Amino acid sequence: MRASWLIEDESGAREGEAIGRERLVAEGVFHASIRPEGWEAPIEEIMRMRGYRTRDEVNLSPTTEGLDVILGKFDREHLHTDDEVRYVLEGEGVFDIRARDDRWMRVVVGPGDLIVVPKARHHRFMLTASRTIRAIRLFEDRAGWVPHYRQ
Ligand SMILES: [Fe+2]
Repeated sequence: MRASWLIEDESGAREGEAIGRERLVAEGVFHASIRPEGWEAPIEEIMRMRGYRTRDEVNLSPTTEGLDVILGKFDREHLHTDDEVRYVLEGEGVFDIRARDDRWMRVVVGPGDLIVVPKARHHRFMLTASRTIRAIRLFEDRAGWVPHYRQ
């Protein structure tokens, strides 16, 4: 996991100053490192502790049919009424999450990273250049995991 303040200007977006774990926690973003070998028991413990009731697996790669359509739903700024919880088994993902002061925090996750984007917090999601991720998604209630786009 790598977290930094995002700098956006005429030349595009780039990672700036690093964000420490304490700041992420203060911003309500939960992160844990769990080894991909034997991940199921610790993930189930986190589900019990945090009240997530179901899980599934998402698998995206350059050969995924409709990949750009799928990604296009989530690379626009949005929020959910439930937490967005991802545990990465393979590949990488990029979460841009609004800090409480509305600045972007960029969090890049890879194998072994569990991240919780808190409910009602604007964010967007992208893949890295490899365009590959296999991740476990945890849900309180799937109905809460609908994107509400920022106006
Ligand atoms: Fe989302």
